[in-house]
Amino acid sequence: MGIGKNTITGETKIPLHIALIMDGNGRWAKKRLLPRSVGHKNGMERMIGLMEHAFDLGVEYMTVYALSTENLRRPKEELEGLFNLIRNHFKEYMGRVCARGVRLRIVGDVSLLPEDVQQILRESEEETAKYEGKGINIALAYGARNEIVQAVNRAIERGEKVTEESFASLLYTAETPDPDLIIRTGKEVRLSNFLLYQAAYAELYFSDKMFPEFSDKELEKAIVEYSARTRRFGKTDEQLETKE
Ligand code: FPP
Repeated sequence: MGIGKNTITGETKIPLHIALIMDGNGRWAKKRLLPRSVGHKNGMERMIGLMEHAFDLGVEYMTVYALSTENLRRPKEELEGLFNLIRNHFKEYMGRVCARGVRLRIVGDVSLLPEDVQQILRESEEETAKYEGKGINIALAYGARNEIVQAVNRAIERGEKVTEESFASLLYTAETPDPDLIIRTGKEVRLSNFLLYQAAYAELYFSDKMFPEFSDKELEKAIVEYSARTRRFGKTDEQLETKE
């Protein structure tokens, strides 16, 4: 399990839900004079490794940002490279992780993806529909503003006023609790249109590592830092002590 003496201990609070912005595949590849597609392939393998390690540690939900609505404007060749990864490896890789009883959901405007890719994603989701509890959300053709606007329009169509809870149930992530910890790799320090509504009280962690080199140990470091933080949810320390 790789639970090292100096990182994760019995005292460590494990986040229920980790969200991951997997940035830096391109720069990782460029530094090695490799095509960007090799960076994405390595990124995909790292994504699977991190998911397995996170579930081993007791994490129950993971949401990963694989392609934003803005990324859809990337050169056709790069997009095809990403779609080919899905065509050639997605079922096998995700099948491996989900066999632990993990429900897979794709979040985003899947209709913007090629039809055969949509089909693979649908089938992969269906294969896990029998599972309840643990979950993986893969954000593809995802943009948080787009998600929020769609939710607003659905609320208007229903003609109902929304509450914070009912609004959350109109988002793509309706079935998943809010993320406790959001990790971004690749040196940038921003959310880039990811989970803007759900991130309200998430702890943020930024790593200088490019995504393909964000190891299991790096994940443990992020969890240990998360565990050491005090989440006050707007309350004072005294209120937290007296559980007011
Ligand atoms: C952003 O960093 C990352 C992406 C646009 C793709 C992320 C995808 C994966 C990690 C694996 C693929 C997973 C699936 C499910 C298809 P960047 O690669 O643009 O890096 P850069 O900022 O260094 O150029």
